[in-house]
Amino acid sequence: MSLQTQTRRITVPEIRAHKGGSPVVCLTCYHAHTAKLLDNHVDLILVGDSLGMVMHGLENTLGVTLDMMITHAKAVMRGSSRALVTVDLPFGSYEESPAMAFRNAARVIQETGATAVKLEGGTRMAETIQYLTQRGIPVMGHIGLTPQMVNVQGGFRTTGRTEAEWPALEADAKAVADAGAFAVVLEGMAEPLAARITNLIAIPTIGIGASATCDGQVLVMEDMLGLNPNPPKFVRQYAQLGPAIEAAVEAYARDVRERRFPGVENVYPMKKAQ
Ligand code: KIV
Repeated sequence: MSLQTQTRRITVPEIRAHKGGSPVVCLTCYHAHTAKLLDNHVDLILVGDSLGMVMHGLENTLGVTLDMMITHAKAVMRGSSRALVTVDLPFGSYEESPAMAFRNAARVIQETGATAVKLEGGTRMAETIQYLTQRGIPVMGHIGLTPQMVNVQGGFRTTGRTEAEWPALEADAKAVADAGAFAVVLEGMAEPLAARITNLIAIPTIGIGASATCDGQVLVMEDMLGLNPNPPKFVRQYAQLGPAIEAAVEAYARDVRERRFPGVENVYPMKKAQ
């Protein structure tokens, strides 16, 4: 008989249960090897549409397609076995109608095996969030700075810096929670407002450039690892992989050019003829 260790993924109710308790640890991830490295240390992996900029060099997230999201989500699912994986619905794949959102979200869930999807928007997306959750698709909301609105807003603008903006953002948070989202990302939001919203709603708030009092935090992994030469101001860097990679490649190039590359004679020694 073989002994198998059964790993099971963290579930949506388990993430919800973090409300008011230990903070939810979340990072973005887009590929298999890094998913394996994160898996034991985070509760939630977000296959974010930020992959458009990070993996594909796009200027913003608007050019990201559903197929791109599915390709990267499959890789992340292959690399992980424990963290709950949530996949962003990209621009143009869900806004038109709840039925369209369901069709595309169901494709994500069926083709990748991920547990949940994330979509941007508060009050205006509440009907869609309810439609998906009532039909078996867990949804994470995303309010505050919503990058898919970049052209309408004329850039990426921090939200809630005047109190006049607060009622609309609080209404967004309540609408998302009441519609059945299991958590909500608060991005680029003034600290006191993010703290107020965290107290106001019954689901975990996951902050990014928001407040330390949120029920969890998310960062783009490449930003916190020092791979982005221009990370957002609020990002704390936990490693400097960019300079480390450059130094390693420089050393490799030097070895190759100076023919100091180790031969393979010891790795694959010649075999005696039989
Ligand atoms: O796409 C993304 O990475 C995100 C996070 C920044 C929350 O939505």
